[in-house]
Amino acid sequence: MATETRKRKADHIRISSNQNVQARKATTGLEDIHFIHKALPEIDKQKINLSTTIFSHKFVAPLIVGAITGGTSEATKINAIIAETVEELGLGMGVGSQRAAIEDKKLEKTFSITRKKAPTAFLIANIGGVQLVHGYGLKEAKKAIEMIEADALAIHLNPLQEAVQREGQKNFEGVLEKIGAIVKELDVPVIAKETGAGIAAEEAKKLEAAGVKGIDVSGAGGTSFAAVEYYRVKRKANSFQRRLGDVFWDWGIPTAISIVEVSQTVTVPIIASGGIRSGVEMAKALALGASLTSLSQPVLHAANKSVEETKNVLSLLIEELKTSMFLVGADSVQALQATPVVLTGKTAKWLKMRKFDVEGYARRKRS
Ligand SMILES: Cc1cc2nc3c(=O)[nH]c(=O)nc-3n(C[C@H](O)[C@H](O)[C@H](O)COP(=O)(O)O)c2cc1C
Repeated sequence: MATETRKRKADHIRISSNQNVQARKATTGLEDIHFIHKALPEIDKQKINLSTTIFSHKFVAPLIVGAITGGTSEATKINAIIAETVEELGLGMGVGSQRAAIEDKKLEKTFSITRKKAPTAFLIANIGGVQLVHGYGLKEAKKAIEMIEADALAIHLNPLQEAVQREGQKNFEGVLEKIGAIVKELDVPVIAKETGAGIAAEEAKKLEAAGVKGIDVSGAGGTSFAAVEYYRVKRKANSFQRRLGDVFWDWGIPTAISIVEVSQTVTVPIIASGGIRSGVEMAKALALGASLTSLSQPVLHAANKSVEETKNVLSLLIEELKTSMFLVGADSVQALQATPVVLTGKTAKWLKMRKFDVEGYARRKRS
């Protein structure tokens, strides 16, 4: 079992690094979010404060690297590079699903390298929600946390991936109850996290009631796990599986929509992820109600190269975020979160039909 999990993880890295597994037709919806440019920003760009405190941890900027990997020697390198970079920049990171190492102790170091390289950064452990339906419990959750001395635990929800994957676990019965049962017993915050198909208001409400302390929406418009699975079976003679990956490639709730659905429904902090590719998009996600932003795919590409490349990618994003804040006259993350934005297109339409407050964002007062 552990070997199979490890092989799958190696496939994910190989495919995500070499194939285009980004959404084809789906977009994040962030293109429908517009700031109102300020010709008189009346702030000094140098004095903009990007720091923010979430989950009782101070981040130098509202940016983390989303869960990617672990379990293989290649993953160790990638995790080490990301960890070293986020430590230097004062950010945070999530590790990939720790299932392989929970099942095979020898693989623990592929994850624990992150704490070695990042003694003070915010680290997020990772287990699958569906695993809780199939035998995992408090013991495994604690093991994942201890393995990297994590500051939080992400429980990932990936029904799309499991549905499309040949060997996927397709029974999610009782998953919410299982999440609720372990959340209360852990002494780090639990974050419920999607993996590219988004979270709707109804699920967010249930997850908050179950006791999760954060929600990572991971919406559609970026990395598509249906696409990853499509390439995993592509060369094999399983045309049914291949078709599933193709048909569901763009499935999911776009990231911008998911942020609004969740932020207008719950009070726990929201992590915005899924197709965020620039500092402008980070700024939009924060203005919609997110507390942190997160990227995976672009960081994987950089981490395949070096710490310098990874640092470049993350530093550029931060500089773009700062520039966006300057152009709307927001001198802090809190000010940005209160900045007016105009919602248009499919994003505004969807949210209005679902009875969310779209005009409220545009009516916010400009400072
Ligand atoms: C190669 C790869 C492996 C991933 N593995 C995991 C995982 O093990 N656990 C998890 O919660 N998310 C996993 N993800 C999903 C990401 O954390 C993220 O939610 C998703 O890729 C959307 O962000 P992006 O568009 O910036 O890549 C993985 C993503 C990639 C690209």
